[in-house]
Amino acid sequence: MRDFLPEEAHLMKFIEDKARRVAQLYGYKEVITPVVESYELLSAKAGEEVRSRMFVFKDLGGRDVALRPEFTASVARLVATVLRNEAKPLRLFCVGSIYRYDEPQRGRYREFWQSNYELIGSTKPEADAEILLLTDSLMKGAGLLSCAFKIGHVGVLRGIFDQEGIKDDAQSRAMQLMDKKQYDDAFRVIRETGMTARGLQTLERLVQLRGKDVKGVAKEMKDCVRDYGKAVSAVENLEEILELVSRSRTTLDVTVEAGFARGLEYYTGMIVEVYVPDLNIALGGGGRYDRLIELFGGEPTPAVGIAHGIDRIMLGLQEQKTALKVEEEKSVVIVPISPSLIGDALRLAQLLRTGGVHVEVEAMRRKTSKALEDANRKGVDFAVIVGEKELKEDAVALRDLRKREQKAVKIEKLVETIRQV
Ligand code: HAM
Repeated sequence: MRDFLPEEAHLMKFIEDKARRVAQLYGYKEVITPVVESYELLSAKAGEEVRSRMFVFKDLGGRDVALRPEFTASVARLVATVLRNEAKPLRLFCVGSIYRYDEPQRGRYREFWQSNYELIGSTKPEADAEILLLTDSLMKGAGLLSCAFKIGHVGVLRGIFDQEGIKDDAQSRAMQLMDKKQYDDAFRVIRETGMTARGLQTLERLVQLRGKDVKGVAKEMKDCVRDYGKAVSAVENLEEILELVSRSRTTLDVTVEAGFARGLEYYTGMIVEVYVPDLNIALGGGGRYDRLIELFGGEPTPAVGIAHGIDRIMLGLQEQKTALKVEEEKSVVIVPISPSLIGDALRLAQLLRTGGVHVEVEAMRRKTSKALEDANRKGVDFAVIVGEKELKEDAVALRDLRKREQKAVKIEKLVETIRQV
């Protein structure tokens, strides 16, 4: 877990603002869920990888609770309970801190921030396509020059496993290993389930299939899984989603990966991760999960969503050395030249703040020259020097700290003058 000093905190908040803006642009309403929730809820379909990394403890009431390792379970809980009668589709957005006891390394922290979007109530491919498009909007909006999508479909692997009669827990174990690219171990687990030679061959061929020629890869996938009806439908679903993205005239850099799996266990359909070329870590991940809400006692409700790692987007921006295009407000320090004028300094500061100007008041009663030297060092734009003589004329001395120029300005014109310079 880390501290964020002002410059980094500023960048984090900038990305958070962009995420909130994307939520507004796509019609997602923000909800705020608790950091601590029941362990049972959070662990239900988190998958072994996330489950084993949760911060779990007993609260003073003896309940097993945990720090949230993601938002999706909390949102599914809301949809299964208080929001159960809400008209669908529901578009919900969350942003906040997430906790996983991951091995710390570059871009991998134990406390990190996610922006999370869930589209609830639709089985249709346009819902999945929307999740891809909004991710592209966020990455571009945050200032990333490029990003690449890795896309797959859980239904392809599960379709084969189901038809081969492989139990759910073995499926999940194999897919967890595939998620970590440990294909040899994954195939060992699969072989132990007694899968047929045909099934094994299909899987072995399938995990080799990947590429940017979306239509070509999909065609090969369909050919590869042609004996498995549900897997064929899954590929067709993936084709429809990507066709809709393409028809939205948004160009995404997509690689379809047939053997792509994700650690979280609740996925049932399309799955996605997003990367930037220079960083080998995912900046976002998500997918379709059509059965989680009913698992939490709600009506059977399809859903699709994604979460983005705000810390990692920040890393991506730092990697690109993208200068932040943030409109910096002018900054002002107010310096009373004697203690008897402190009240006037406070009054003028309030006046300027009402006009939207960022103001600090000299709070250490230093000599004017010392206070100005300090303001200069900190890069403050202007000093308002409050003196008896000028106040009698309803004026102050306004000093441009960069140009080292000073002039008397009427108080009533102060906000306007600062804004115009
Ligand atoms: P996830 O892939 O586990 O998905 O996490 C989403 C994103 O959170 C990752 O792509 C990454 O950017 C960021 N992230 C994960 N772990 C860390 C870490 N230790 N340090 C920094 N950043 C990290 C989910 O959480 C799902 N709930 C997404 C989802 C929403 N699926 C459906 N709806």
